[in-house]
Amino acid sequence: MLIFAYNSIFGASLVLKLCILASGRGSNLRAIINAYKNGRIKSRVRLVISNNSKSGALSFAGKNNIPNFHLSQKLFNSEKEFVNAFLALLKKYRIDLIVLAGYMKLLDPRIIRKYKNKIINIHPALLPEFGGKGMYGMHVHEAVLGAGETESGATVHFVDEAYDHGAIILQKKVKVKAGDTPEKLRKRVLRTEHRLYPEAIKLFEEKKVQVRKGRVFIK
Ligand code: GRF
Repeated sequence: MLIFAYNSIFGASLVLKLCILASGRGSNLRAIINAYKNGRIKSRVRLVISNNSKSGALSFAGKNNIPNFHLSQKLFNSEKEFVNAFLALLKKYRIDLIVLAGYMKLLDPRIIRKYKNKIINIHPALLPEFGGKGMYGMHVHEAVLGAGETESGATVHFVDEAYDHGAIILQKKVKVKAGDTPEKLRKRVLRTEHRLYPEAIKLFEEKKVQVRKGRVFIK
């Protein structure tokens, strides 16, 4: 049985050092920072990394005095150097949990191995349906509506080497309404994501997430 051993302990629960990886808007980053500010979680965002220099996540982190870095493979001579720089940042900020929030790149296997069961992602649908390569952004909601589903939702899951594939930690359903467009559904699901992601982080703080033989058990 694997139980998480994190560095800093605050009372009965853990205070985790979070790294957010984001490529786009960064609204989930904002939701996580707000959850810290209003006391719903104890863990703080200590580091933000984006592969996109224009990501809203980087500017928002900057405004909140959170160390933030544009890290793209294009800036390095090789994949190896890029991954080394990535790992060095995670080490420097003593990151406990890596939180993907709209990060559009697959993580290198070295990062996944080093942070096994310490990397999570949020997906705007009820996995294992409507996930995998190409299922991102509006494509997800178009597919859900196209399939005539009556409900969609959000899923928080562990990250492994395939897109949207790791064990599921938490899910919340969202109703599909008559007259929904992909954009309307996206907005409704995103509001749910903003509540669900801090809830998932809280489960880690409370040591309630256990992984046995690749399966997740919530205590
Ligand atoms: C979210 O819908 C998330 O589920 C997906 O990417 C989107 C990121 O949105 N993985 P934001 O950048 O946090 O606003």
